[in-house]
Amino acid sequence: MKKITAAITAVHGAVPPKKLTNADLEKMVDTNDEWIVSRTGIKERRIIEKGKALSDLGVEVVEGICKKRGISPLDIDMIIVGTITGDYKFPSTSNVICDKVGATNAWGFDLSAACSGFLYTLTTGQQFIENGTAKKVIVIGGDIMSSILDYTDRATCIIFGDGAGGVLLEPNEEGLGIQDSILKADGSGRKFLLQEAGGSLEPITKENVGTPAMFVHQEGKSVFKFAVTNMADVSAEIMEKNNLNADDVDWLVPHQANLRIIDATARRMGLPKEKVMINIEKYGNTTSGTIPLCLWEWEEKLKKGDNVVLAAFGGGFTWGAIYLKWAID
Ligand code: UT7
Repeated sequence: MKKITAAITAVHGAVPPKKLTNADLEKMVDTNDEWIVSRTGIKERRIIEKGKALSDLGVEVVEGICKKRGISPLDIDMIIVGTITGDYKFPSTSNVICDKVGATNAWGFDLSAACSGFLYTLTTGQQFIENGTAKKVIVIGGDIMSSILDYTDRATCIIFGDGAGGVLLEPNEEGLGIQDSILKADGSGRKFLLQEAGGSLEPITKENVGTPAMFVHQEGKSVFKFAVTNMADVSAEIMEKNNLNADDVDWLVPHQANLRIIDATARRMGLPKEKVMINIEKYGNTTSGTIPLCLWEWEEKLKKGDNVVLAAFGGGFTWGAIYLKWAID
């Protein structure tokens, strides 16, 4: 019997229409376009309209995938969502999306790994395909960062945006799809990037409503130091482990947190700019959404058999890299 691998057979993305530009932010906090572009590479980000949530983007993603693959929501076995900003604390956004699209034969759950959410989720979905318990798994990465940002804090509000993307995983017998993954975590880094209140340690009370504890807190410089080293190291490690040199890698799909971190990772891998997917200027950091949004935008350029490396670093700390062979013609 041939080995079953988990391959991406369709991809789709969704971003809200409303743009928040650097010029808009200049009117809200003490910042400027030059600082934001030179330090991060971001020019604008998308912000969801009031009354909408992650599941609305998730529905667009699932419906787009079903259309492209010519399947019905009834064919889906599982929907797994990587996010830190689901519609509710519970139930899971996976439950909500399944209900909204009519995926009544599917089960699923949300997974929290901050900016590494899509890597963790993709590896989780892979297990169900490879062990034969599921044939069609939709893996979504997405975040509504505007729901947990303080728009008076210039250290965080300029960075993040809203968006989601997803892929369909199916069994493959040609050796395409996910080849290897290296995932890492170090919870001692949690103090540098977190949302303190709203969990069981510090529930929301009348006293802490509106205080900084309710919003994303990031010690940017510290996170940058860990991110720039670890994302480059893990990308080099996955190349070495799979005997890949720079010529063998067709695409790097990096988490879009900061253009300087992306450049450092590409340099470490020996890759020219043309092989690196970058859309941070348009969407900012959408946390779990960045990697699938890149795959969606580069869909036309990706060719069957391409060697693709996904890499991320984020809150937790969590980080990792996945090596896959593109399976779509
Ligand atoms: O995706 C999850 C993982 N997250 C990351 O990977 C993010 C990693 N960190 C970063 O990308 C960068 O650290 C930031 C983009 C967040 C910040 O860039 P930085 O070059 O590390 O700047 P900094 O925080 O050291 O601040 C430099 C200066 C400070 O002023 P002084 O103390 O030098 O006078 C800040 O107060 O820039 C000031 N500053 C700003 N100025 C204008 C901080 N934020 C802003 C701002 N506009 N928005």
